Amino acid sequence: MIRPFNNVWPRIHPTAYVDPQAVIIGDVIIEDNTSVWPYAVIRGDISKISIGKETAIEDGVLIHGGGRISKLGVIEPIPVVIGNNCIIGHGAVIHSCTIKDFVLIGMRAIIGTGAIIEEGSIVAMGSVVREGMRVPPRTLVAGVPARPIRQVTDDDYQVIIKSSQYYAELARKHKELLHL
Ligand SMILES: CC(C)(COP(=O)(O)OP(=O)(O)OC[C@H]1O[C@@H](n2cnc3c(N)ncnc32)[C@H](O)[C@@H]1OP(=O)(O)O)[C@@H](O)C(=O)NCCC(=O)NCCS
Repeated sequence: MIRPFNNVWPRIHPTAYVDPQAVIIGDVIIEDNTSVWPYAVIRGDISKISIGKETAIEDGVLIHGGGRISKLGVIEPIPVVIGNNCIIGHGAVIHSCTIKDFVLIGMRAIIGTGAIIEEGSIVAMGSVVREGMRVPPRTLVAGVPARPIRQVTDDDYQVIIKSSQYYAELARKHKELLHL
């Protein structure tokens, strides 16, 4: 389902693949060859969400453009920015944060409000990146809360690139089979 919020419709590039069972609401931009898989929810109602090119938003991922609420009940909107060639693994929760290019977010990881994951980094499966944490470039973080484990190797980096290309190709096949 793709629907507007406050008269703002999601803007989805014609080459992107959005599975019919995904939900995309409001102020959301999705660029070329990006894929959004079944039961992913992308809700841009408090703040904007932008997702770059050739990125995969896997099944069951939840992305909210929310913010921080003060004790007076005033909300400070904080957008979601996701770059190019990222893999957002099955079931991850992405809340009002920035994820730069060539990042792998492992399955079921949680990225808290205001966090920044710099280019080429990996968040291991099931990890919790705390609110406001900055993960430096090319760094593998893991655990609850997530802490740096090691540098991302050239091999890891190639796997991220190949995975994003693979997903873009897979999405093209789904799109074709569904006549989308
Ligand atoms: C983290 C990952 C990249 C493996 O990296 P690795 O360097 O081969 O990891 P290792 O198994 O050698 O473990 C290195 C250390 O990190 C820890 N670690 C690895 N994965 C972890 C996790 N998910 N949570 C907590 N700690 C973890 C290990 O316990 C180990 O710690 P130790 O040295 O104290 O024993 C992999 O487990 C992962 O999470 N991949 C993401 C897959 C995914 O979700 N893809 C998207 C869907 S297709």
